[in-house]
Amino acid sequence: MAAYEDALVGPLFVPWGEHLLDLVDVQVGDSVLDVACGPGTVAQLAAARVGPLGSVVGCDLSEEMLSIARSKGDVGDVSIEYRQCPAEKLSVEHDSFDVAVCQQGLQFFGNRVGALSEIRRALRGSGRVGVSVWCEIESCEPFAAIASSIARVLGPEAAAGYCNGPWGFNDAQQIHDDLRAAGFGDVEVRRDAIAVAFDDADHLIRTLGAAPVGAQVHALDSDGRRALRSAVEDATADLTKGGVISGLTTCHTAMGTA
Ligand SMILES: C[S@@+](CC[C@H](N)C(=O)[O-])C[C@H]1O[C@@H](n2cnc3c(N)ncnc32)[C@H](O)[C@@H]1O
Repeated sequence: MAAYEDALVGPLFVPWGEHLLDLVDVQVGDSVLDVACGPGTVAQLAAARVGPLGSVVGCDLSEEMLSIARSKGDVGDVSIEYRQCPAEKLSVEHDSFDVAVCQQGLQFFGNRVGALSEIRRALRGSGRVGVSVWCEIESCEPFAAIASSIARVLGPEAAAGYCNGPWGFNDAQQIHDDLRAAGFGDVEVRRDAIAVAFDDADHLIRTLGAAPVGAQVHALDSDGRRALRSAVEDATADLTKGGVISGLTTCHTAMGTA
């Protein structure tokens, strides 16, 4: 969890979180629900937008994630309430939010339509939802480079496991159908790209600490670590300028009305 916060939040989840809040048009005074809020990234960004007249609740399954979120405190005069619960059974009242967002959570839910139905239950009649999931890993250049490096050093099975996590649910039609099945109207799924930057190969390797393959990376001996670093440097050669690695990341955002 510390690796997630340290290596991924600033470069990746903050810019994408701002993009998601732009798309759902969060306004001053809105009440916002952030589902699978993780370390509170979108919840914090939302709090800065809604101001003291608004409110923000963040929900996540992981108490570890929530404790990082809570440690960040309030944003100005806006207090953020964090609740530990599964997306499939949210601890929130019916009809109580203007906006619900879920950034990079849907692909991990055991029951996607059940979770989306819960989100809809929490929204007011006029409420709107924004749900983001990564597109195929090939369109997320720095991560495609890591995947090929994992394949080289740890083998194809480890690489497939890496890709099938965050990037494993990337069918726009399926995302659309899931929102419709949960009862959302005016459903639209868009595809956008944002360029993100990592300090260097070590920074990219640190992101693996947040992935299931992180345990295998951690177990590498010094030769293995050197091999991984060199594989990442090779795979990111075309993305590297002045030591900094930058590349496009691409995401589906599904929007709908309750
Ligand atoms: C990639 S993180 C995204 C976190 C956050 N939305 C962000 O933008 O940084 C995925 C999050 O989904 C949470 N999660 C996975 N399955 C869940 C479930 N069934 N219910 C609630 N949260 C879940 C994880 O604990 C994790 O915090």
